[in-house]
Amino acid sequence: MKLPDINILDEKDKRLHTISKDVTFPLTKEDKENIRKMIDYLKMSQIDETREKYNLRAGMGLSYVQIGIPKRIFVVVEEIEENEFEEYIIINPKIISTSIEQVYVGEGEGCLSVNREVEGIVPRFARITVEAFDMNGNPFTIRVREDISIAFQHEIDHLNGILFVDKIDPKNPYKNANKMREI
Ligand code: NI
Repeated sequence: MKLPDINILDEKDKRLHTISKDVTFPLTKEDKENIRKMIDYLKMSQIDETREKYNLRAGMGLSYVQIGIPKRIFVVVEEIEENEFEEYIIINPKIISTSIEQVYVGEGEGCLSVNREVEGIVPRFARITVEAFDMNGNPFTIRVREDISIAFQHEIDHLNGILFVDKIDPKNPYKNANKMREI
């Protein structure tokens, strides 16, 4: 597998603070190709051999704006068994309900656009329900939980021009941690 030719923007790039625009259907050929490239990149970042070969950081999600295209599309890839992946392609998402329970990633969230260690936690809903469209423009509803719920909220933030580091108070990076469950 060849590494897809995508250029992931760094946090210093102002384009990451753009609010992405809704997508209209049908998707262009270029959009479809880019979605495939983002998924392949994430898979290769999760497979030990290719991660080492190409010196990648492991990533679970990518938003379209992270490769410089401000359209409301993101992908999440989860390795469910060795070399077996669940792919989520989410277009024009809307969160329609959230759990009361909040959680956070104990070791801190990561982002392929943030190439440094970041101290602190981000409150996330343990479960969310999202309405979105698939690549063919068909609407669907999906309920996600735990790490996938966190990944979805992280990516939806990207579509709104927000990075996870923007949500951490540097004066109190572990604020309210005692009120949430660590995962
Ligand atoms: Ni990110």
